[in-house]
Amino acid sequence: MAQKFTVVVTSDRYGNETEGLELEQEVVGRITDIEIDLQGRPSASEDELIAAGADADALCVSTREDVTRRVLENLPRTKVISRYGVGLDNVDLDAAADNGIVVTHYPGYCTSEVADHALSMILALNRRLVEQDRALRNGDWVKFGPATRTILRGPVWPLREQTLGIIGYGRIGQSVAERARPFGLTILAHDPYQEPAVMEAHGVESVSLNELLDRSDIVTIHCPLTPETRGILGAAELARMKPTALLVNTARGPLIDLKALAAALESKALAGAALDVVYPEPLPAEAPFYTMDNVILTPHSAYYSEKSVELVRQETLLEAIQVLRGKRPRTVANPAVLEKVHLEA
Ligand code: NAI
Repeated sequence: MAQKFTVVVTSDRYGNETEGLELEQEVVGRITDIEIDLQGRPSASEDELIAAGADADALCVSTREDVTRRVLENLPRTKVISRYGVGLDNVDLDAAADNGIVVTHYPGYCTSEVADHALSMILALNRRLVEQDRALRNGDWVKFGPATRTILRGPVWPLREQTLGIIGYGRIGQSVAERARPFGLTILAHDPYQEPAVMEAHGVESVSLNELLDRSDIVTIHCPLTPETRGILGAAELARMKPTALLVNTARGPLIDLKALAAALESKALAGAALDVVYPEPLPAEAPFYTMDNVILTPHSAYYSEKSVELVRQETLLEAIQVLRGKRPRTVANPAVLEKVHLEA
């Protein structure tokens, strides 16, 4: 008799208990060596997760779930937590290891999508595309005639004379540099854990965070959210930036002090920003960014493409299944767990 396991999807991104998990059911249908009971139980808070995970051998989680130490200490059967995607800031990795729970994720599944999104934001801010579109819908073309500068409401700088600063020069940061180069941008990067030689090989100058903020016309963030990087751009850092500078964040909301950012944008100490990630998410209706002309917002959608989502859904489930089989998944995000749990290579 095949061993039977319960896999619970707590993410609300793809479906609920009754519909939306057809792709996952298809994957399960192809598994013959073990039996999987797949359950969709969208949950986010600690108590919801503890209830949803009571009988779960595996949890498939996304970004909004609060997988804290208390949750991990109250999942009696769970052997693996498989995270849809890249960032692991919502999972307490040490607590998972202490409780013998393997954490796996799928880095790299949407590198090119996020890089495309960041570059689209850079181009849209630089060319004032969204502002122009809003102005025209508002009747400005009819009102001002061909007076382009009146409609533009601000300067447009040639990209070939601009400097782009990349904070975090990993997979996505490097893909952004690759895409930015043909536009003639001078590229700086700050990443204390990356060899400067890697940057030099790409024609990118390795600099300190302060130098990057002082020199850049456009800053784009691509580091993970960790205790060290939380608030990496606070009031003091934003004040260092040029008043003509633009800021793009497709990494994680809490990397930036959003109150300080709103104040800087309001007072024109900063020219514009494009934010795919904020906090909390969704951004509350009263948030000041919704009414600022110099801000572009997207709903944490940088990861998205038809292909990337299909890939991440399949792989997240398959990686969880690997652990249930007693095998090592492609990535173990909390390697300390391997002292407690034996997984075949
Ligand atoms: P990665 O791990 O390949 O690169 C991250 C880089 O940041 C590494 O090179 C690391 O050394 C660097 N870093 C760490 N601490 C730093 C610090 N204090 N200052 C500067 N750099 C530092 O990760 P990848 O794949 O490039 O993803 C980056 C982030 O993008 C993820 O952690 C995730 O939060 C975010 N992301 C957002 C998505 C979205 O839909 N908006 C989708 C996928 C990822």
